[in-house]
Amino acid sequence: MSRKIGLLVSLWLWSIIGIANEDIQLDKVNIDRTDVVSLQRGAHLYMNFCSGCHSLKYVRYNTMAKDIGIRDSQGNLLESLVKNTLLLTSDKITDTIQTAMTPELAANWFGKAPPDLSLVARSRSNDWLYSYLRGFYPDNKRPWGVNNHIFPDVAMPNVLEHLQTSLSADKYNLAVADLVNFLDYVAEPHKLERERLGVWVLIFLGIFLIFTMLLKREYWKDVH
Ligand code: HEC
Repeated sequence: MSRKIGLLVSLWLWSIIGIANEDIQLDKVNIDRTDVVSLQRGAHLYMNFCSGCHSLKYVRYNTMAKDIGIRDSQGNLLESLVKNTLLLTSDKITDTIQTAMTPELAANWFGKAPPDLSLVARSRSNDWLYSYLRGFYPDNKRPWGVNNHIFPDVAMPNVLEHLQTSLSADKYNLAVADLVNFLDYVAEPHKLERERLGVWVLIFLGIFLIFTMLLKREYWKDVH
């Protein structure tokens, strides 16, 4: 009996925590997945500021670079451009995006290993990422001197601080939106294709429905 009550109370507490979490006001991010220049800026920011700690284990440099438009007019990958701008020195263009840091080392430094970010745009949402990356504030009680409005007591330092202080607020927001756009692409590389295909599937189903109805009418004619 007391076990049941314990369970009920914990469920109730969970729901309250859930509601409290939903109370966090997330800022809406405005991104455009068809904007390859934004995706390229986002990839560049990612490689410079994030890839030292976070891997993207489902993403290969060459596929990603092609998808975000680093190719010539014939559609061929501009390999040397990728090598000069995105690739970390020891990696091959066909490699997945890994980090040099071992999980043990990272856990030692940060108390927690930085998670892989391949799917984070789906597990957290784009608005969450946008708010989180802009949500750091000074807090001397924390190891890195910063805390986060969206992720209290986070173990990650504010790695974009330098960018934040050197850009105007508008430009900084745009840079973070580019980064979120890139992470959204990474989490679902075939989104645009899926949407395009979805329209054709609906058109096909529509036409198919008309034929089915005509056929049904034809059959019933004989029955009556
Ligand atoms: C110096 C290492 C380091 C760098 C560089 C870094 N992070 Fe992190 N990041 C961490 C650590 C450690 C955590 C785990 C925080 C925790 O769980 O308290 C984390 C957590 C996160 C999370 C939360 C993931 C989740 O769902 O819990 C996101 C999102 C994230 N980082 C994005 C980024 C982005 C984007 C960049 C580049 C702008 C970046 N990080 C750069 C160390 C780093």
